[in-house]
Amino acid sequence: MKKVLITGGAGFIGSHVVRLFLNNYPDYEVYNLDKLTYAGNLENLKDVETKPNYKFVKGDIVDQDFINKLFDEHQFLAVIHLAAESHVDRSITNPLEFVTTNVIGTVNLLNAAKRIWGCTKDKAVREDRIFYHVSTDEVYGSLGDTGYFLETTPYDPQSPYSASKASSDHFVRAYFNTYNLPVVISNCSNNYGANQFPEKLIPLFINNIKNSKPLPVYGDGKYTRDWLWVVDHARAIDVIMHKGKLGETYNIGGFNEWQNIELIKLMCRIMDKKLGRAEGESEKLITYVKDRPGHDRRYAIDAGKLNKELGWKPSVTFEEGLEKTVEWYLESEQWLKSVTSGEYQKYYQQQYA
Ligand code: NAD
Ligand code: DAU
Repeated sequence: MKKVLITGGAGFIGSHVVRLFLNNYPDYEVYNLDKLTYAGNLENLKDVETKPNYKFVKGDIVDQDFINKLFDEHQFLAVIHLAAESHVDRSITNPLEFVTTNVIGTVNLLNAAKRIWGCTKDKAVREDRIFYHVSTDEVYGSLGDTGYFLETTPYDPQSPYSASKASSDHFVRAYFNTYNLPVVISNCSNNYGANQFPEKLIPLFINNIKNSKPLPVYGDGKYTRDWLWVVDHARAIDVIMHKGKLGETYNIGGFNEWQNIELIKLMCRIMDKKLGRAEGESEKLITYVKDRPGHDRRYAIDAGKLNKELGWKPSVTFEEGLEKTVEWYLESEQWLKSVTSGEYQKYYQQQYA
């Protein structure tokens, strides 16, 4: 059995990656390492947790001794690193937490991989091993009305979150150059789908529409994001891990740009239908609020390299993916209730009061 470590596997994207690997690779032993912060939830993996090749390990990537012991014990052949603090608004309130988890946590994992894999240029040894770092398009900064992020676009992070992710990407590349660590990096656009914590735009707004609460649109609402269904991100990670070239970066995106306000209106229309409300009812909840400080105006990913070199492309249209997502949240009342009780209420008050 090939032992694969997935960090952050109880989170939003991580849970889809864990599920896809368990289903596609019964010969892999999948270790899910997660600290179970507010964003981690083992309910996200209920349907696969009894698979014989699945193991959950509760732990913190910032704890160097624990990480070294874990790698020594299991001698992982592959690491897919997703664990992170991931919400831009929280990074504005508490930047140091992002440095700690996203930078120090990543370097701890790199060191542990280097410890067990050694520093070698020997292809036969390296080809079997891979450190896959999952990153974001936000490292490239903000675009004007035109142009796309390419893998060669210079880094220009604008928020504490993107600065911490950019820093972790630089460390990953430095370990490739300096120690021959077999790495690959992907930078993906905004994901949406089941299991996303309702602090991010799409699940937050679905939940608020459902409960007839105001929809807090930052600034003029004309900020633009490229949206990708989370399962398609997991599929891209699978392809890159198995066919990607070591040392390379791959951009992942949905070829699917939306201004926030247009996306919000689309969500309102879908929800009106699903909830049996009169057309235009949910749009009345739209409320323009104070802008996010340093808000990036536009992200747009050119995922052409991944498409041309490795043959990946999204499997669903945005309308299909969004409809599936809305349905999932409407059906998952218990999940939504449990993640929006307690701490969430405090966060919501602080963020939106
Ligand atoms: P998430 O916040 O939903 O999940 C993060 C997971 O990491 C949680 O399960 C949490 O418990 C775990 N975690 C946090 N700190 C930890 C620590 N110290 N030790 C161990 N586990 C810890 O995040 P997500 O949206 O699923 O994002 C996953 C990764 O993908 C992140 O690296 C993020 O930067 C990247 N990414 C996200 C998006 C997006 O749209 N959400 C897009 C591109 C890239
Ligand atoms: O681009 C990839 C990134 O996408 C990931 O790296 C991040 O982890 C992920 O959180 C996401 O970052 P964004 O900041 O783009 O996502 P968020 O859902 O927070 O916001 C999307 C847009 O919606 C953004 O322009 C801000 C706006 N917004 C967001 C919230 C939460 C609002 O107008 N109101 C809100 O309440």
